[in-house]
Amino acid sequence: MTNHGHYRLSDAGKTVMVQGFVQKKRNLGQLLFIDLRDRTGIIQLAFDADHPLRSEAESLKNESVISATGTIVERSSKNPSIPTGEIELSIDALTVHSKAEQPPMLIQDETDALEETRLKYRYLDLRRPVLQNNLIIRHKIMQAVRSFLNPTGFLEIETPILTRSTPEGARDYVVPSRLYDGDFYALPQSPQIFKQLLMVGGLEKYYQIAKCFRDEDLRKDRQPEFTQIDIETAFLSEDDITAMAEGLVRHIFKEAGEPLADSPFQRLTYLEAMSQYGSDKPDLRFGLTLNDYASLLGDIPLDFIQGKKIKGIHVEGENTALTRKVLDGFKDLIADLNVAFSFIKKEDALSGSLVKHLSDAQSDAINQTLNAGDTLILAIGEKADTALGRIRLALRDQLDLVHDAPHAAAIITDWPMFEYDEETARYYATHHPFTLPKGDLKAIQNHPETLMSHAYDVVINGHEVGGGSLRIHDAQIQEAVFEHLGLSLDEAKERFGFFLDAMRYGVPPHGGIAFGLDRLTMILAHTDNIRDVIAFPKTSSAQDLMSEAPGPISNIQKKELHLK
Ligand code: AMO
Repeated sequence: MTNHGHYRLSDAGKTVMVQGFVQKKRNLGQLLFIDLRDRTGIIQLAFDADHPLRSEAESLKNESVISATGTIVERSSKNPSIPTGEIELSIDALTVHSKAEQPPMLIQDETDALEETRLKYRYLDLRRPVLQNNLIIRHKIMQAVRSFLNPTGFLEIETPILTRSTPEGARDYVVPSRLYDGDFYALPQSPQIFKQLLMVGGLEKYYQIAKCFRDEDLRKDRQPEFTQIDIETAFLSEDDITAMAEGLVRHIFKEAGEPLADSPFQRLTYLEAMSQYGSDKPDLRFGLTLNDYASLLGDIPLDFIQGKKIKGIHVEGENTALTRKVLDGFKDLIADLNVAFSFIKKEDALSGSLVKHLSDAQSDAINQTLNAGDTLILAIGEKADTALGRIRLALRDQLDLVHDAPHAAAIITDWPMFEYDEETARYYATHHPFTLPKGDLKAIQNHPETLMSHAYDVVINGHEVGGGSLRIHDAQIQEAVFEHLGLSLDEAKERFGFFLDAMRYGVPPHGGIAFGLDRLTMILAHTDNIRDVIAFPKTSSAQDLMSEAPGPISNIQKKELHLK
């Protein structure tokens, strides 16, 4: 590497060789300048009118790849906006390695290229410093994982990519088998079963920077192919594992040079997070917590209120920003939740559609609570928390509440073991079916929705960056959980027989966690687009626009794979 972005005025007089891409040329008649770009930055090459290499330099097209040798000299007209702006290179020799055609996009941080173009020509997009920096951050995180875990006895172990289906709740990507007509491998949704079997195998402390594959609806922070920092340990308690996870996150931030407050990560149970923030991944960078207004407003004589759950967010002093239009927009955010939305504003007096229904005592109480300029946003119904959770995030964006706010990390514990899905009328494991239930297992039969689990998530700035649990290490409990999920013992044996078998031969108590490497990188790179932190990402419709995957295969391949 030529490192040329690091040269400074103190290097003047040195003869150096620089290599890189021609970023741009400026022809001032008498003088010709070339900005040469490498991974470390820009350096200016200078050619005067009678320089023997002047015409060759002049003919260079942007993005051509060259080497140049010359002497570092002080510039006469300095450019304070770049780190090398006080110097330039007076050139003695020039080699053109590769001439470039006119690129289809502008290669600089502020490019106006559409994302489609950027993904189609990703190798050009990757030349932009901002993307290079994101990949440098990603690299630092991966190195930090290793430097944190290796000294405490963790082993980095790979697990298979061609495997059987893993139960993380998404659709599998499958690969047809050539040798076994009609059979398929599945790509792992996570290394979950294998990492547990490593504990059964006596390896005690495992980690892997693992590729995972999930065929699910994509969002801004989801890719079909993503990377986990996957960890499993034997004999550690839930507290041991969450403390280790916190230590790892701190180490990663430190190594990436990103500030993170020293105070311990906030611990919230799932139920606390839902009732205070309306989200199982609360953004704790700002307040606006949810309060219960049932006892104050519950007897308003209106059908949609009486006997219902009533929650509210008290927004102080933002009445001008929270116009009618903005508040109505919030209503659209919760349209699917069967929750009534209302608000009370205070200026000189109270206003809002509920005000005329308030008793004197209720009016007095609200008048006491609100100051002029305040708004009380109310959601009424079973899913009031979820509704206000969404509105809370909309308020964050609308009122710009986290601009420059320090990162806020939390660990969410005590998750429900099961969740009921009304559409399919069955229970699903909230985390996954290997998670150890907490408390009285008899609840599986009687009140499955009340059974809690030893699952935990790590949340930063409202992103779920990691999740894990203690695992079941008793075959009977495992079978009871499978059964509750509607898997008969036969079906469970068919899908996870090898795993149930393993449970007969001595299983250490174990547990672990997996972090989303891509999501951690997003936070450290300050981007909310997951594609910005992956070298060759897929689009939101799961395509690679550069290689044009997925694509057809030949008839010969199809025949070999027994596909029609
Ligand atoms: P989970 O499914 O919660 O747990 O995944 C762990 C972490 O992986 C990240 N993640 C994703 N990142 C990008 N794109 C996706 N499609 C995607 N899906 C998940 C998230 C998430 O917190 N085997 C368990 C872990 C365990 O129990 O140890 C698991 O995979 O940051």
